[in-house]
Amino acid sequence: MRGKFITFEGIDGAGKSTHIDWVAARLRERKDIGAVVTTREPGGTPLGEDLRQILLHRKMHLETEALLMFAARREHIAEVIEPALDRGDWVISDRFTDATFAYQGGGRGLATARLEALEDWVQAGLQPDLTLLFDVPLETASARLAGARAPDKFEAESRAFFERTRAEYLRRAAQAPGRFRVIDATQSIEQIRVELEKIVSML
Ligand code: ADP
Ligand code: TYD
Repeated sequence: MRGKFITFEGIDGAGKSTHIDWVAARLRERKDIGAVVTTREPGGTPLGEDLRQILLHRKMHLETEALLMFAARREHIAEVIEPALDRGDWVISDRFTDATFAYQGGGRGLATARLEALEDWVQAGLQPDLTLLFDVPLETASARLAGARAPDKFEAESRAFFERTRAEYLRRAAQAPGRFRVIDATQSIEQIRVELEKIVSML
């Protein structure tokens, strides 16, 4: 049986990376499913990780940025995601295509139609079975990041950029309620785990 594909999304500092290993560990306790693979975008393959370094640290035209995100994704799907799902393994990815719509589309203003064309080409119908959107106001996200790490190219973006990014995530979640679960990520880590436990136990 084909595995399931779960993605974690949200603006920087929402707290999604904090929960990925925990969700993976809960799923690994289950006897009824295959192995659980955790991965991330941009990245997830040796080539993708090289592209990640360029994407997170070099300035470039917004279309170049979108094309490189999808180039890394093409490799990730071919090398990691599809083989794992075909083996019956489950895949959990820290970000996927919703991030491109939110950051390059919402944040930078690239036309959605361009991104949809790339999505059709690169994914050929592949979509996550479940997307967990960690949603927080910008103040919460930036306060969390301030103490946590030095900002990369995206994390150094303006407040307006992240307002647009967050709004685009929420718009997409409202459009695809069957695939998305929106998590109120202002809650404590413990409260979020209780919510995640319920969602994951229904898969
Ligand atoms: P993201 O992956 O969404 O960018 P992280 O998971 O790296 O965010 O979290 C950013 C920072 O916020 C980390 O220092 C983390 O410990 C902290 N954090 C995450 N979730 C919460 C939470 N629910 N409450 C308080 N702090 C949190
Ligand atoms: P992330 O792994 O969340 O960063 P960190 O390890 O610092 O938590 O994501 C890297 C950055 O890339 C993040 O700021 C969002 C951005 N990004 C895009 O702009 N478009 C995309 O398609 C993806 C996958 C990520």
